[in-house]
Amino acid sequence: MGSAPEAVKRLMVTVRPVALADIEALYDLDQACFEPGIAYSRGELRRFLRMPAAEGVLADDEGTLAGFAIGYLSDGRIAHVVTLDVRPERRRGGLGKLLLEDLLARLARSGAREAHLEVSTENAGAIAFYEKLGFLLRRRLSDYYAPGRDALEMEKKSLQERSR
Ligand SMILES: CC(C)(COP(=O)(O)OP(=O)(O)OC[C@H]1O[C@@H](n2cnc3c(N)ncnc32)[C@H](O)[C@@H]1OP(=O)(O)O)[C@@H](O)C(=O)NCCC(=O)NCCS
Repeated sequence: MGSAPEAVKRLMVTVRPVALADIEALYDLDQACFEPGIAYSRGELRRFLRMPAAEGVLADDEGTLAGFAIGYLSDGRIAHVVTLDVRPERRRGGLGKLLLEDLLARLARSGAREAHLEVSTENAGAIAFYEKLGFLLRRRLSDYYAPGRDALEMEKKSLQERSR
């Protein structure tokens, strides 16, 4: 998890690293964003955030969680996006892009050179979003969420460190 104390005001939200104390708010938003079987439990979120190579960023709108992103570094060079959640009423305002780019920039500073993620084949909006941000189809993962419920594995090459 990011240890940097920075909190930056952009898009009328404050972006800062996620802390374990945020778990309840993250869980509530994840439940609102994803259906059962895809949404994470509190324990899963906690487990991801406790990984030594994890990063999490959130957007705070005067005390309300507007969105968050969690990822981790694997094999020293792959940024794995665990989840990206934007509150429904805040969508299509650039917040998803802001959070994903912030997360990937943090992981790039830790050594990531490419990013991978899985997204449900039924989630056309998110697939369009990731394509817009430069992700390409890597492969289809059959029965990833449940029998008959596939995921697309997507990847983005050539991650760049972004200045803060
Ligand atoms: C996917 C998600 C994170 C996008 O967040 P967002 O804040 O709405 O995204 P942005 O406003 O930054 O979108 C950037 C661009 O991506 C594309 N895009 C975003 N959502 C889209 C959608 N539903 N359909 C088509 N294109 C979309 C657009 O090109 C958009 O630019 P534009 O609004 O100027 O046309 C958000 O819809 C969400 O939280 N969905 C539920 C959870 C989820 O599916 N997460 C991702 C899977 S892990």
